[in-house]
Amino acid sequence: MSCATESHAYVIFGATGNLAMAKLLPALFQLHCLGQLAPDVRILGCGRTPFTRDAWRGEVREHLQAADPGPLESFLPRLDYLTGSLEDAAFYQALDIWIGAGECGNNVIFYLSVSPELYVPITVGLVEAGLLAERTGWRRMVIEKPFGHDLQSARDLQHELNLRLKEEQIYRIDHYVGKESVQNLLVLRFANMILEPLWNRHYIDQVQITHAETIGVNGRASYYDRHGGATRDMIQSHLLQVLALLAMEPPVSLEAESLRDEKVKVLRSIRPLDPSQLASHAVRAQYAGYQQEAGVAAGSHTETYAALKLYVDNWRWRDVPFYLRTGKRLKERRSMVAVRFREPPIQLFQGAGASAAHPNWLLIGIQPDDVVQMEISAKVPGQETRTRQISMDASVGNPGERKAEAYEELLMDVIQGDRSLFLRYDEVKAAWNVVDPFMRGWADDERPPLQYPVGSWGPKAADQIFGQADREWRQTLRCDGKPGGKC
Ligand code: BG6
Repeated sequence: MSCATESHAYVIFGATGNLAMAKLLPALFQLHCLGQLAPDVRILGCGRTPFTRDAWRGEVREHLQAADPGPLESFLPRLDYLTGSLEDAAFYQALDIWIGAGECGNNVIFYLSVSPELYVPITVGLVEAGLLAERTGWRRMVIEKPFGHDLQSARDLQHELNLRLKEEQIYRIDHYVGKESVQNLLVLRFANMILEPLWNRHYIDQVQITHAETIGVNGRASYYDRHGGATRDMIQSHLLQVLALLAMEPPVSLEAESLRDEKVKVLRSIRPLDPSQLASHAVRAQYAGYQQEAGVAAGSHTETYAALKLYVDNWRWRDVPFYLRTGKRLKERRSMVAVRFREPPIQLFQGAGASAAHPNWLLIGIQPDDVVQMEISAKVPGQETRTRQISMDASVGNPGERKAEAYEELLMDVIQGDRSLFLRYDEVKAAWNVVDPFMRGWADDERPPLQYPVGSWGPKAADQIFGQADREWRQTLRCDGKPGGKC
């Protein structure tokens, strides 16, 4: 992230929504504090909720709750607000006047932080008002996930966008890819030689990718229930992106197209689900009490937990299972990658007087701990030949180092026209291809999803996905908090 930014305007559709308030405005404020926004950058919030400019600034001031009021006072004058219906031509005329009145050049970012059914109407409104034409400056559009709700709707959306925008103007955002710990996966893999010889089906037994949350569907139950579910909300986008970064071949360079070419090859290589294997390859469940959340439809089958077993059918990964799971209201907030290596062909130390060999694990914390750990076996001091696991730990950051929030990084990339962390349409399409058969299978299943208690690690049945008694989900980074403990 460099400090040079061009003058531009940021237009946020859905400015009073959760995402804008909790992520986008704080990220823009942080960029302001770091001196990374040009002095004349203006930020326009748009929405139906009527606000005067001052009332809007007051609202944002309350949300940002800056400890140091100085930067906040210099940030607020950047903000303006336009009330209107996003489906009304008059709104776009007013927007045109607002953009024309600015002295920030003709570069504009339109951020669609709205319900997905508004993506096309907003695009049409912008086009009809001539606001997407790049005459004297650039015009970019950021589209939040989900891009479609299945393969067909993603195709339809892409078709509508293609009619009105150049691909270079579209930024399909997946904030997970903007996380520093997710970007670190690329560095771990391609800046270190020690992993590469082992990074394949000959040495890796399985890969687990977990995103566990303690929060529920607070405040967005009705949206989540109708348009989400754990598979659409998390796996189709975030977790498949992590899988792609873990499994991809080395890119030719860090250029956007090289990276995206390699990711899409992985997504396309994922073995299509054989419908008869749904039960052995996937688990869906709901947390107890989900049905009682305001906004959730009676008898809803929307899953708040999903676990999938996927195979990447290429030379490197054929037959290595990738287990992906995510859930709300689980025991801990933890996202991590756990790579289990194969065991030695002969268990030399598993004889009389010696304990069983443990497999090696490489554990990569994504959040909250940004750590890398390697678990290896070592001899327990003493006359007997006993082994135990010890853990080599490294924290990725040093004390005092600031970790940028994903949205800071990504908003800055849009300003700079760097699309490497944004998704190309073929990636999105390939990801829908992977999850669609699971969702279709569940839609045809009349049985309700399993239930799991709030504060647990999800349904017990999720362990059956391994199909082997000695395989289970890796819940923690350290085994029982200490090397050699139970994992
Ligand atoms: C969002 C999902 O994309 O990611 C949410 O819609 C989820 O349901 C969130 O809670 C998780 O991301 P993070 O960065 O908050 O862990």
